[in-house]
Amino acid sequence: MARHLITSALPYINGIKHLGNMVGSMLPADVYARYLRQRGHDVLYICATDEHGTPAELAAKEQGLPVDEFCAQAHDAQKAVYDGFALAFDYFGRSSSAENVEITQHFARRLNENGFIEERAIRQVYSPADGRFLPDRYVEGTCPHCGYDKARGDQCENCTRVLDPTDLINPRSAISGSTELEVRETKHLFLLQSKLQHEVEEWVARHEAQWPQLASSIARKWLNEGLHDRAITRDLDWGVPVPTDTWPELAAEGKVFYVWFDAPIEYIGATKEWADQDPAHRDWKSWWYDVDDEVRYTEFMAKDNVPFHTVMFPATELGVREPWKKVDYVKAFNWLTYYGGKFSTSQKRGVFTDQALEILPADYWRYFLIANAPESDDSSFTWEHFTATVNKDLADTLGNFVNRVLSFSRKRFGEEVPAGSEPGEAETRLGEEIARLLAEYEEHMEALQFRKAAAALRALWSAGNSYLEEKAPWLEIKTDKDGAALTLRTAMNLIHLYAVVSEPFIPATAKAMRTALSLQDDTATWVSADEARSLDSVPAGTPFTVPPVLFAKLTDEDLETYKERFGGDPQA
Ligand code: MF3
Ligand code: ZN
Repeated sequence: MARHLITSALPYINGIKHLGNMVGSMLPADVYARYLRQRGHDVLYICATDEHGTPAELAAKEQGLPVDEFCAQAHDAQKAVYDGFALAFDYFGRSSSAENVEITQHFARRLNENGFIEERAIRQVYSPADGRFLPDRYVEGTCPHCGYDKARGDQCENCTRVLDPTDLINPRSAISGSTELEVRETKHLFLLQSKLQHEVEEWVARHEAQWPQLASSIARKWLNEGLHDRAITRDLDWGVPVPTDTWPELAAEGKVFYVWFDAPIEYIGATKEWADQDPAHRDWKSWWYDVDDEVRYTEFMAKDNVPFHTVMFPATELGVREPWKKVDYVKAFNWLTYYGGKFSTSQKRGVFTDQALEILPADYWRYFLIANAPESDDSSFTWEHFTATVNKDLADTLGNFVNRVLSFSRKRFGEEVPAGSEPGEAETRLGEEIARLLAEYEEHMEALQFRKAAAALRALWSAGNSYLEEKAPWLEIKTDKDGAALTLRTAMNLIHLYAVVSEPFIPATAKAMRTALSLQDDTATWVSADEARSLDSVPAGTPFTVPPVLFAKLTDEDLETYKERFGGDPQA
């Protein structure tokens, strides 16, 4: 069995994420990790909060907290939501950890020794009123490209152009509002990415054939535009300090690394945090260092993160000249929209992950989001689509099947799985169909095609319904009691199969289905094609209980309430 390293883009610390963030990184990574674990692979799924940079400092200031306290609280708040979504990280770390400081500084030293870092004097916005330089988002002003008057120093939210704080027209301090700004000269470290262009190109060329088109086309675009040397330090209080041994002068001035330099390194840093928590994880480096093909590394992210993961971070790793593991497969997502518009954290439009869990349990969201993941294109969240999907797929096709089978069997045959006659032609046909659909499901999961995998899973659930409609045990029982018992026993075998194979999507429901059947030594981690075909892992005589309704049907009234609370179609 293979070893799989999995990471999902580190959620930024400044606030609770919306459903769009969830479906584009952490959730599919969790589904994939759960699937691989079930199939017996050795999996390490690592994530963390991305805690440095100006947005963290500004959010802390807004809440009147010291930035370290703000980050500690915000980390715990995000972690609680992810627990609520049943994200089974092996470790969820923090980019501000001592481990990440150590590894980031190590990377910087090695890059420097290898001639990929240079000190350069640059002109930066300085605010005498604030007594400090104002990097990135600390400056606001008018965008020189589109005229938007709330553009931030790093990027214009309106036209999405990347900016430098000195580009802004009528700049003002985001801290004090002061407009008496000056431009002063100061020294910063530059990563000489231009020197690594050729190597990165070769590395991408060797890997991109395996990547989804979305990832390779973005990587190509950046490479074609040419890699530019970029400043990797900032004048901020909060961040990984520039190491004193290598750059005493810059360290004395209090420079820290730029957030985008230390964030991806935290994939490694968090793995070390994981190891430092538990002596059993002592060999953590075997996931990252000098492993080549022994470990398969898959990264999950939304498309705006692709340049950093396919070009910039690989450039850093290559320049370090140490055999750190580089990504094998980049699973990139388009956007989930809210009624075709943008989910917006700043404008509070859309559904946030904590609110989602207030309304309904995680499995409802997990299934809907993955079944509609923005894989080949953007996809749109609407309450109409959400409630219809829940009602049809989860409440009717799966939930109702389980409850109907178990309660009818209990009513007619008591609290144990009935025996009944030998399987006949209908059961053989069903077994073939289930084995075929299971193979399809596995194929899509292996290929990280989540929508298609969800469709195959839904087809597995449907096959049970068709079988039940065909056999109609509630009629069959009037003329052929043993035949009805066979039908119910076969259906209960399907419930067990569903419990196993639905686990990556809806882990809590899968558990409820599994515990409904008190199968002795139920250690089944996956279902082989033969088991699927024969549908006899749940023998007659197995005690069972009828679980509470697995998925509640959502009413028109629910729909109206959701739309009212969150705002429905913004165009309507
Ligand atoms: N915090 C970044 C974002 O939200 C993602 C960082 S991913 C990492 O876009 F690789 F850099 F860590
Ligand atoms: Zn603009």
